[in-house]
Amino acid sequence: MASLSPEQVIEGQRQDWNRVAGGWEKWDRFFDEQMAFLNHRLVGDARLRAGLRVLDLGSGTGYPAILAAQVVGANGSVVGIDLAQQMLDAAGRKASALKLSNVTFRTGDVTTLPFESASFDAVTTRFCLMFLPDIPKAAAEIARILKPDTWMAAAVWSTPEKNPYLKIPIDIIKQFIELPPPDPAAPGIFRLAKPGELVAMLQQAGFIDISEHEFLGDVRFAEAGDYFSSLMDIAAPIQNLWAQLSPAQQTDAKQRIIHTAEQYRNGSAIALPIAVRMVTAHKPG
Ligand SMILES: C[S@@+](CC[C@H](N)C(=O)[O-])C[C@H]1O[C@@H](n2cnc3c(N)ncnc32)[C@H](O)[C@@H]1O
Repeated sequence: MASLSPEQVIEGQRQDWNRVAGGWEKWDRFFDEQMAFLNHRLVGDARLRAGLRVLDLGSGTGYPAILAAQVVGANGSVVGIDLAQQMLDAAGRKASALKLSNVTFRTGDVTTLPFESASFDAVTTRFCLMFLPDIPKAAAEIARILKPDTWMAAAVWSTPEKNPYLKIPIDIIKQFIELPPPDPAAPGIFRLAKPGELVAMLQQAGFIDISEHEFLGDVRFAEAGDYFSSLMDIAAPIQNLWAQLSPAQQTDAKQRIIHTAEQYRNGSAIALPIAVRMVTAHKPG
């Protein structure tokens, strides 16, 4: 299959994430409780403190932008940017419910940031960079909009083998349909899984003091059925694969996914491992 143009990738991302925005809102509380540790890690890695002006890339429904807004306080501010208006609408509702007036959300593309050079004190981004058509270009954009002597912190998925949470359904879908071998350069969940890859792109963009850490954790579900439904509700790339199965195949695949997830039961919870690559970089002063 011919590779998609950058414009096609961006339009596909916009449609995909708008489509699942309702699912993100439905499961918001659960995933906030399960994955807040990643937001805290990003806020720490980006050296956020009161008064800073922060840009969060691919904010979706507000992670980690909302925590960042709480940390920078009334004298600071956060802008969350994303392609998908419906994801941002959910983020805005949460910020209003929390009475946060220092965070704003706007649509835009991370590869062409609509901001002046040297206009932010920090950048955070969770689970977005691997979906971009041109990551080196985005790295250059991040370097451009940051002020000198500031930090950026990114979270991206590590390898499938270390992420049963995501790998289980993909493997099971592959039992029913033949998927083309993954193009390592194509945007997707595991595009930045390889150690050193994002680091090299950030180096190329002029960042220094770059560190990379594989952060291990798990997502815990009371029931395997909740795992299945939540993932299908929020994971747009997996939904796209799922849509290629016939209804009968979906029924069979769902049973297999639930059965496989059950094997991760640990006491009262099904604990599905995740591995997240945390990359932190310093724009020189
Ligand atoms: C998996 S979601 C992550 C959302 C949020 N950061 C989180 O961790 O919960 C990926 C988000 O990246 C956004 N995205 C993908 N490509 C983008 C681009 N080129 N510019 C801006 N946002 C983009 C999508 O619209 C989507 O909301």
